[in-house]
Amino acid sequence: MIPDSFIQELRFRCDVESIIASYVNLKRRGRNLVGLCPFHSEKTPSFTVYPESQSFFCFGCSAGGDVITFIRQMENLDYVEAIKFLAQKVGMTVPEDAVDDKASRLKTRILEMNRLTARFYHQCLIEPGGKPALDYLLGRALTPKTIRHFGLGYAPNDWRETLNFLKSKGFSEEEIQASSLCLRGRNGGLYDQFRNRVMFPIIDIRGNVIAFGARKLEGDGPKYLNSSDTPVYKKSRNLFALNFAKNSKSDTLILAEGYMDVIALHQAGFENAVATLGTALTPEQARLISGYAQKVVVSYDSDEAGQKAARRAINLFDETGVSVKILKVQGAKDPDEFIKTYGAQRFKLLLEGSASALDFELDKLRQKVDLETPEGKVAFLRDCAQLLAGVNNRLEREVYASKIAQELSVDKAPLMLSIEDVIKKRTRQRQKQEKRDLRMYSQVSASGQRQAPAALQSKDLKAQVSQGKLLAMLLRYPDFYELVSRKLTPQDFTVEENRLIYEAMSARFARGETVDLLSLGAALTQEQMAKLSGWLASVSGMNFTKEDAVRYVDSILAQREQKTQTDIAQMNEEELNAYIHSLASKKKS
Ligand code: CTP
Ligand code: MN
Repeated sequence: MIPDSFIQELRFRCDVESIIASYVNLKRRGRNLVGLCPFHSEKTPSFTVYPESQSFFCFGCSAGGDVITFIRQMENLDYVEAIKFLAQKVGMTVPEDAVDDKASRLKTRILEMNRLTARFYHQCLIEPGGKPALDYLLGRALTPKTIRHFGLGYAPNDWRETLNFLKSKGFSEEEIQASSLCLRGRNGGLYDQFRNRVMFPIIDIRGNVIAFGARKLEGDGPKYLNSSDTPVYKKSRNLFALNFAKNSKSDTLILAEGYMDVIALHQAGFENAVATLGTALTPEQARLISGYAQKVVVSYDSDEAGQKAARRAINLFDETGVSVKILKVQGAKDPDEFIKTYGAQRFKLLLEGSASALDFELDKLRQKVDLETPEGKVAFLRDCAQLLAGVNNRLEREVYASKIAQELSVDKAPLMLSIEDVIKKRTRQRQKQEKRDLRMYSQVSASGQRQAPAALQSKDLKAQVSQGKLLAMLLRYPDFYELVSRKLTPQDFTVEENRLIYEAMSARFARGETVDLLSLGAALTQEQMAKLSGWLASVSGMNFTKEDAVRYVDSILAQREQKTQTDIAQMNEEELNAYIHSLASKKKS
């Protein structure tokens, strides 16, 4: 059994695009790549690679799957062989059982060490020796309740106190070093990495203490020190306070720069705030956020560095389908200071009026051209039409079009017309795509199955499509699962294949495991992987909200109902009698 963590690691290292590119000549087409299918012979490319969902699908022969499926088929290998093959390509070694046991035991030990250390640091904070640190935190307007809530602590001003504490709890030097709580000095001995600092435990969504941030109180040395990456911690894949923020009812996350910003925000009632961990936002973090929120308000420091970082963040979110707003805290250097100076109420107002990502995008377009020249104006208006066509809300389109028309002193009507043109063109493309989907799935579902009567077949097709798309949606937006699972049971997936896929997903969700194409690979057949990749392909580039998920769920339930009615309509006399009889007996019992 290959551990999940290994598969996840492999997923990050084996980019589907680059692996496939070493077999197939790929050309970029929009967000995706296309090439001639290696699994059947063709002259025009229908083989498509989707970097976003890390999958591939061929519209010609319905081959599809993730990077492992691809290698299996290409190299004719079984599942484990394919993983070994890929691991070797990227310089990873598949853990043998013994090694694996050792590695996972070390992880458990480090988590235990971190948990105890967090308690130890918290204890040090409230003891007399921690008074300067406690005063510091209270001086920054944190309440005792907040300090407890975040489990803040104090690392004593000593080279060995943490080390001795850990040794007294029975941890070996090897384990202690692996936790990054202590470092090995030049003379070979261990010493505490964090000394005389305020400690911020970093907790993952399962409640494990995975690392620490540490702020100095006074003196020299860097303002913040953070745990380095360890077997239980990758800073590029975690977010500070996501363990709390994930429970907030809001569909929005506030992304701040610093620990103190987040803590101040939570204390002021904004429990949906998170921060990166001493680095700029990474693509993995953007993806992580997209699993919990549909909207993000980036609330970085008001200095130039902060605003620049905010713009970079927009680009990362662009690819995840999360809508972004940028909030500029005017009159304060960061959200923490803003709340302290102006209060939570004012911050709320700021949040509600935060400049949209659209304004930033428009700014970018403006900078591309010279608006003093007629050519520049035309080019700008054309770009604007493309941009505004992507805005779903008509009023919003109108408002922005008016603003732009005014800015360039041109008539608004032609701009609106171009926008409508772009929208119409995109709608046509989408409809074509949907037709292709339907055709494809009638193909796929017809193979090897009893031919259903025509009327039923089209209903079946509809059922297939909404079930399949919902499955793809769950892969892209795992946080929809809770909602979906409340409304649907596996039996509502009337297509058996979809039911099996849904059951495999549910099992992983129930265990709190990552649910993505790659980790499902172990539980699904190659055919199921291909189908699922087909569904992913059919929703590629589309964004979904919880409302969309509800619509699909309703449509699945409605079709289920309808299908029974169709079934009844096609019963013969005898079957009908039996059916009515069964209903009557159900009522009695
Ligand atoms: N940071 C870091 N190392 C540093 C400085 C900063 O890792 N030497 C990270 C920390 O995660 C910090 C964030 O960058 O929380 C923001 O830095 P900064 O704006 O300098 O800190 P503030 O949040 O303003 O911290 P404070 O309010 O405590 O001064
Ligand atoms: Mn700051």
